[in-house]
Amino acid sequence: MDSYVVFGNPIGHSKSPVIHRLFAEQTGEQLSYTTLLAPLEDFDNCALGFFTSGLGANVTVPFKEEAYRLADRLTERAQRAGAVNLLSKLDDGTLLGDNSDGEGLVRDLTVNYGLQLAGQRILLLGAGGAVRGVLEPLLEQGPAALVIANRTLDKAELLAQAFAELGPVTAAGFEELTEPFDLIINATSASLAGDLPPIAASLIKPGVTHCYDMMYGKEPTPFMRWASEHGAAAALDGFGMLVEQAAVAFEFWRGVRPDTAPVLKALREQLAR
Ligand code: ATR
Repeated sequence: MDSYVVFGNPIGHSKSPVIHRLFAEQTGEQLSYTTLLAPLEDFDNCALGFFTSGLGANVTVPFKEEAYRLADRLTERAQRAGAVNLLSKLDDGTLLGDNSDGEGLVRDLTVNYGLQLAGQRILLLGAGGAVRGVLEPLLEQGPAALVIANRTLDKAELLAQAFAELGPVTAAGFEELTEPFDLIINATSASLAGDLPPIAASLIKPGVTHCYDMMYGKEPTPFMRWASEHGAAAALDGFGMLVEQAAVAFEFWRGVRPDTAPVLKALREQLAR
């Protein structure tokens, strides 16, 4: 059977196998999709071993940069992101690396949540790999301003410079920001530690500003709670981004686009239990 995996370390709690199983059931595709725990020191051999017979892989933390280096060819957006979350074996046996994280985020924001990004003021919190992967697709939407704010300002400045030719992107420190934004996206890993970037409540215009955390969990993240407490129009989590980036992979591999809405609904019910 056509075989696909998700590489990560750790990988035990990955939702990707169940997402792809639901996509396969829905579309009538026959495939196997499992987790593959790659050793921290030996991603390349593990991946090349899988691809002697496997057809495609999602790649998650901490291997996205290694997958970028391993790929024989890269899509333009993966090249710009400097990271690969999708490896596919092409007919000639070479490995194509792509990055569908940004497309997943934009689809979640615009299709699932119905947000319009053109002409909006958007704030991105963080300047790590998660931000680098979504800058190009966000800028393609034509925001009025895209500000990258980070604890370590240098990293935000380097990113803003690297993407400046694609749109109105600038860098800032957390404390210098006071004016409200239409959309605030948390792409720091602060939530993992139950933490919150030190940002002013005035960044939220009550009833207008949408807040989106790329993380998700059974309970709202600290950033989502902060957003609700200060009257944000909505406090959204990143679960849909995960499902949408998986749908991009599934469509690339199988040539059929799954309907994500029922899958998201079923998995959200499961997540809540
Ligand atoms: P990822 O690939 O998930 O983006 P990363 O590259 O390690 O992971 O980046 C983590 C991001 O979260 C960084 O922007 C980091 O800020 P620094 O660049 O200053 O390290 C940010 N971050 C992590 N913990 C944070 C915290 N407690 N408060 C604010 N920012 C935090």
